[in-house]
Amino acid sequence: MKAIVLQELNRDAKGMDLFDSLVTTDVPYPEPGENEVTVKVMASALNHRDLWIVRGLYAGIKPPIILGSDGAGVVDKVGSRVDAGLVGSAVIINPSLRFGDNPRVQGKEFSILGLPEDGTQAEYVRVPAENIFAKPDFLSFEQAAALPLAGITGYRALFTQGKLEAGQVVVISGIGGGVSSLMLAMAVGRGAKVYVTSSSDEKISAAMAAGAIAGVNYHSEDWVKQLQALTESDGIDLVVDSAGGDGFASLLDCLTPGGRLTFFGATRGFPSSIDLRKMFFKQITIQGTTMGNNADFANMMDLVNTLQMQPRIDGPTSIKDIRQAYNKMHTGDQFGKLVLTHDSWD
Ligand SMILES: NC(=O)c1ccc[n+]([C@@H]2O[C@H](COP(=O)([O-])OP(=O)(O)OC[C@H]3O[C@@H](n4cnc5c(N)ncnc54)[C@H](OP(=O)(O)O)[C@@H]3O)[C@@H](O)[C@H]2O)c1
Repeated sequence: MKAIVLQELNRDAKGMDLFDSLVTTDVPYPEPGENEVTVKVMASALNHRDLWIVRGLYAGIKPPIILGSDGAGVVDKVGSRVDAGLVGSAVIINPSLRFGDNPRVQGKEFSILGLPEDGTQAEYVRVPAENIFAKPDFLSFEQAAALPLAGITGYRALFTQGKLEAGQVVVISGIGGGVSSLMLAMAVGRGAKVYVTSSSDEKISAAMAAGAIAGVNYHSEDWVKQLQALTESDGIDLVVDSAGGDGFASLLDCLTPGGRLTFFGATRGFPSSIDLRKMFFKQITIQGTTMGNNADFANMMDLVNTLQMQPRIDGPTSIKDIRQAYNKMHTGDQFGKLVLTHDSWD
């Protein structure tokens, strides 16, 4: 079968050369183990994680490896202990593998599809049978592929960890990002009052068209004051962030007393300082979160079905042009999930 294989790490490369080590290659078909299934991947999607890996900025990278955590497709083959009736069914894959029995935190066996185990940027992918879920009929394979990693991460950040309820105010930072754009749809759908931040006024307008109340451009010098003014009457119950950097400390400052901040990334690095006195006096909760378990994934899919949610897609791009898609993520030009359709490999 064909796959996009990361051959080596070229940390010093710049621009498009950064992606020269992603090569279309023939590799063996992944035979399912007894509790596994092999899925023919119809569409996959990029996550910032894939970019961190290609740039050599992730732990435990051992090329050659097939990247890709997100995928939707058709069950091609099942292991000896899996229901043979699943063959031919359209599925979406939960990339959160072996989360474990403790719903608070993943166990030692946990891993994310696409490193160290081969991922979805291939014709076929092998996953545990417990990680496949029925693809909703109202979603194309491309739309379905946009959901898994961002959907489970965003669902857990907003609801399982963030405890967001209808009528509460939530600020979602960097709304152009893959996880953020899905969180916008989920939070609006659940009846929350959503405010956003972004580098782009166009993305803020698009977010408002999708149900956000308002937004601020984090490139403005006084974006924090603007956000405080917008939310003055209601306060901010929850902030969800994945950018980190000094914006993280500013967002904490904006929270209403007793407010909560959940975060799952640090795209901009770490904050240079946090005023701890304000945090304890205001009784702020800062909650880290990562991916989620099969219950989070099932709850996310329930919400998607209830809302008939259509994830925002940037593309789709043909898998043969995967380097262009990676570069778009690198330059931050996307709005929504960068999706790859597995139509042609040459
Ligand atoms: N722990 C986990 O389970 C988990 C899961 C998924 C992702 N992550 C991490 O979360 C982060 C986002 O992932 P993603 O896949 O959504 O990435 P992505 O699609 O590349 O989105 C990144 C977004 O970050 C926003 N951003 C950049 N600088 C910012 C700043 N100073 N303030 C606010 N927002 C800023 C931009 O929003 P605008 O375009 O609107 O400016 C950009 O679109 C990454 O660091 C990723 O590694 C972690």
